[in-house]
Amino acid sequence: MTDKGKSKVSKPDAFALPREFPGAVWYGEEEIEAVTRVLRNQSPFRYYGPRCGFEVRQFEEEFARFIASKPGEAWPEHTDLRVTAVNSGAGALEVALDALGVGCGDEVIVQGFMWIASISAIIRNRAIPVLVDSDDTLNMDPEAIRARVTPRTKVIMPVPMLGGCARIGAIMAVVRRINAERAAQGLPPVHVLEDCAQALGAHARGIPGSIAPIGEEGVHRVGVFGDVGIFSLQINKNITAGEGGVIVTRDPELHRRIEALHNVGYARDGEPAQNWYGDTPLGWGQGRRMTELQGALARVQLWKLDAILDSMRRSHARFEARVREFGMTPRPRADAENPGDTGYYCIFRLPPGPDDADAKIARGRAVAAALDEWGLHPWFLHDFEVHVYYNIQPLVEKWPMNNGCPWECERNAFHTAYRYERGALPRLDEALITTVGINVPSRLTPEDEENILSALNYGYETVIRQ
Ligand SMILES: Cc1ncc(COP(=O)(O)O)c(C=O)c1O
Repeated sequence: MTDKGKSKVSKPDAFALPREFPGAVWYGEEEIEAVTRVLRNQSPFRYYGPRCGFEVRQFEEEFARFIASKPGEAWPEHTDLRVTAVNSGAGALEVALDALGVGCGDEVIVQGFMWIASISAIIRNRAIPVLVDSDDTLNMDPEAIRARVTPRTKVIMPVPMLGGCARIGAIMAVVRRINAERAAQGLPPVHVLEDCAQALGAHARGIPGSIAPIGEEGVHRVGVFGDVGIFSLQINKNITAGEGGVIVTRDPELHRRIEALHNVGYARDGEPAQNWYGDTPLGWGQGRRMTELQGALARVQLWKLDAILDSMRRSHARFEARVREFGMTPRPRADAENPGDTGYYCIFRLPPGPDDADAKIARGRAVAAALDEWGLHPWFLHDFEVHVYYNIQPLVEKWPMNNGCPWECERNAFHTAYRYERGALPRLDEALITTVGINVPSRLTPEDEENILSALNYGYETVIRQ
């Protein structure tokens, strides 16, 4: 574009936007009191101590009620959802895959825009990740799943990214059809593990259940559609205990396995209990228990979660409206009529520009650099570190664990059909080189929002509209 066509916008004054972590910036007296309570009780271990307050157990019960709740409604008193709190989101994924029986010879279908932990949990369970392309929500494309399913498929792992829901209702409908066909062929069902580490509290429309529908079509919090849902409480997440993870399931037998495997491998099912660690051995435990300090913190944060989401959604709506005014396309919602995204990130597709991929990459980097000047914490998605499959060197190069697993295992010999270099997922690849996002902090003042809007204006006029 020539100077003649350029709009004249003056450079906004510098402004300070504090680095923000939702959850952590809502810490107050309640969190201090909760942690202090555990310290005063001298009981940081979840199962016993001098005066154990059973904070983790209470967090699990409260989380089950929260995740069963409809947005805007009170948490139900009772639910069939069962919750196990663990030490991290990565740990939650490893335990969940283990409990679902994933191992050598299995394939797990996962999208290419995720976080490295989604992949490493598959590798560490000695299975082979199978990449599936994304739709315009940047999440798993329901239409692309079927072509990736083989008799070896054990689990399908959608990962609602950056607070934006997948078309999970459609994904579950596809999986139910696939499972009906598999049953007719005498094959075991595939299960769905929702990695909702980045989307706690989001809601979407659909019918839960991977084999048969569980209930009526409706709006549900993400993480309850599949057989298992996991969440993270690490500091970048919507609420935080510094570290922490949560595993949700409806299936009592699966829950029993999750409970056992997150501990020392024994189900705590004796009446009366014979041992603190459990009574019936079910497998090899992973030692991923949550501490009482995390549990006490997480309980307080959970009560604040919907307020945090409301705040992010309000700011997000303003930024998204501005992006539309520029004529750019914000990331589409899975369900336009019932938007349940958390508002954690405002993501937009750059306007049509160069045809050449290298030129698109150069433009995306320039846009992110311009927005970074104001501390908007932008990401050009192509450069979004190990959220992108082709940026994960150990995946692209198929790094083994000790003794060569999973790649050198005879039962995984089929992996040679799969590759992980850029180019494996054409639709996602194109989206990544044309999309930029900015973080939406959860505690913005109207003045902060105005500052961000003026920085967006300036970035649009000076860099994007070229
Ligand atoms: C999609 C996804 N899955 C799993 C994890 C792992 O969670 P944690 O950091 O709590 O181990 C994360 C963390 O960023 C994530 O974003």
